[in-house]
Amino acid sequence: TKKLILDLDTGIDDTLAIAYALGSPEVELIGIAGTYGNVRLETGVRNSLAVTELLGHPEVPVYPGLDHPSTKDGFLVEPSTARIHGLNGIGEVDIPDAKRAPQTESAVDFILDAAQTYGDDLIYVPTGALTNIAAALAKDPVAVGRIGNITLMGGALTVPGNVNAWTEANISQDPEAADALFRSGVRTTMIGLDVTLQTLLTRKETAQWRALGTPAGRFLADMTDYYIGAYGRIAPHLGGCGLHDPLAVAASIDPTLVDTLAINMMVDLEGPTRGRTIGDNTRLNDPVKTSRVAVGVDVPRFLKEFMTRITALAA
Ligand code: BDR
Ligand code: CA
Repeated sequence: TKKLILDLDTGIDDTLAIAYALGSPEVELIGIAGTYGNVRLETGVRNSLAVTELLGHPEVPVYPGLDHPSTKDGFLVEPSTARIHGLNGIGEVDIPDAKRAPQTESAVDFILDAAQTYGDDLIYVPTGALTNIAAALAKDPVAVGRIGNITLMGGALTVPGNVNAWTEANISQDPEAADALFRSGVRTTMIGLDVTLQTLLTRKETAQWRALGTPAGRFLADMTDYYIGAYGRIAPHLGGCGLHDPLAVAASIDPTLVDTLAINMMVDLEGPTRGRTIGDNTRLNDPVKTSRVAVGVDVPRFLKEFMTRITALAA
């Protein structure tokens, strides 16, 4: 089994990503790194601890990471984000605090240690700001280069934005961090918003979780219904909520779920398009392509894997 690290701003779809990972026998979730975005760092760490316990996996350690963007002093949750994930990040559903505490080692050192130990067998999936991995890169680029598989949720190649017309939330939190990762020469696969918005969940599926009659099933159903409600207000034409972060986990485990294009990427850092992910024209002819970008997804197969794995976990 491969070793998996998730790096999360634990909101609703991040929680579904945890559930997907815990329901996947191909990987061992060796730790969760904490970042900020949907919620502040402390809230995300609290949620990661509480959710793993509720889902029956109190053995998963949670490592707090950096709590603000690399180019700013602080971080505040956008009110619009709070309305999508709830103020507590998990759809205003009350679940008990975890019995265990966060680790004292920082997420950055945890990622570097795991890279040294597991190398090619390590999968790293960030689904929030990329601040932790950028800090890891700055500290030890050789170690980060040893990570076998980095699959991130963020950006988009075609129709980009959920923050504004140009930018997606995770990349917009720390554009410099994302740009540093794309230009580093480290191999990455980007699962962007244009592709994750093809994968939608409805109340029909959450009802199946609720019908399990378990605390985990009820929690996942109630939390996700909040998210579906938010999507209903913001993007009613979609008819469901986007499974952004779980798709990144799924594609990291089974890359055949997505079609990818090999293209060296960068991030706009200036002007109105700040935070936009875009192909790097100075590296178009470079025979070495370090980024792969998802351009399509097998929606029925992914949704089947998603429901099978999470339903079995919550039963
Ligand atoms: C991404 O931003 C966050 O709101 C979600 O958890 C997801 O990681 C979608 O743009
Ligand atoms: Ca996220």
